Amino acid sequence: MTSTDTLSADLVRTIVATAGLAPSIHNTQPWRWRATDHGLDLLADTSRQLGVADPDGRQLLLSCGAALLHARLAIRGAGLTPKVTIFPAGSDELDAGPLATINVTSGQPAGPEDDTLLAATHHRHTDRRPFDPRTLAPDVLRALRRAAETEAAWLVALDDADLRIDTSVLIARADWMENHDPAYRAELESWSRTAPNAVDGIPRDVVVDTDRPRQSEFVIRDFDVVGEPGLHLRQAGVERPMVVLIGTDGDAPADRLRAGQAMERVLLTATAHGVATSPLGQAVDLESTRELLRHSVGGLGHIQMIIRIGYPLPDAKPLDPTPRRPVNDILQLE
Ligand SMILES: Cc1cc2nc3c(=O)[nH]c(=O)nc-3n(C[C@H](O)[C@H](O)[C@H](O)COP(=O)(O)O)c2cc1C
Repeated sequence: MTSTDTLSADLVRTIVATAGLAPSIHNTQPWRWRATDHGLDLLADTSRQLGVADPDGRQLLLSCGAALLHARLAIRGAGLTPKVTIFPAGSDELDAGPLATINVTSGQPAGPEDDTLLAATHHRHTDRRPFDPRTLAPDVLRALRRAAETEAAWLVALDDADLRIDTSVLIARADWMENHDPAYRAELESWSRTAPNAVDGIPRDVVVDTDRPRQSEFVIRDFDVVGEPGLHLRQAGVERPMVVLIGTDGDAPADRLRAGQAMERVLLTATAHGVATSPLGQAVDLESTRELLRHSVGGLGHIQMIIRIGYPLPDAKPLDPTPRRPVNDILQLE
């Protein structure tokens, strides 16, 4: 069945718009879509890769993996079946061809889980604010673990004191190293946005109010790049959020693309349970701290992302969506 039979121009735009809502490192949105006879191709936009924070494109692949999951959910939402081939051209170089091709065929209507996750793509946002100290319900944690496993990845919850200490130390160490690197700060500044019509990057208003006293066991990435590094840490009640690690057995580009789909299935599952999330990427930005983190969980597999998870505070206002590039900028019609 070809795209002419299955995918109208409107449906292609809906799929690409839904894919565009995915989270991405510094909101770089490093993806492009190409409509084909069989469905859609996902390509990396390496002009949007972060040369300092992501020199080997691992987080670009995670971001593109998240967009791929959104596209799959949108296709399921239209009652069609996406068949994904990762690196169809045989090379896993980022620029050598599509990262993935989606062959769309007719299929069964979406099930309740697909519907729930598709709905969550519209209200998942990175929430860097303090969370309610309530413990995460065990059934939520089980659902998050299952979400990672559905996408051939695994999830480790940091409920063990030693693991929490190791992880928080490595995040703090990476955060310090990054914040004292002028190239990292310049790159972050180049993705900070104040213009109301910005279509990418991190808007000022999602940077958590740095004047408010805040201390957490896990250092949140400081997007307030103007001024001295680290000034935001002041004494106060210490936040002790649930933190989970998402990992894969392998670390090839295909594993990283799968990890992005797993990360996003975890984030959407959390959203569907009314649970807020924010990635804590510093310790996995740097290969040295990422490798140390891998050893702290027994040296098996590869850590792909660290995520802070918790219930929003009772008075937390809904977050505004961060900007996205228009569909015309990311969609190429064959
Ligand atoms: C691979 C990856 C790494 C990220 N790392 C961080 C991080 O270290 N700290 C953070 O606050 N947000 C992080 N984010 C979240 C992005 O900043 C966020 O997705 C983007 O700004 C878009 O906002 P939204 O998630 O609210 O849609 C990361 C997202 C991805 C996909």
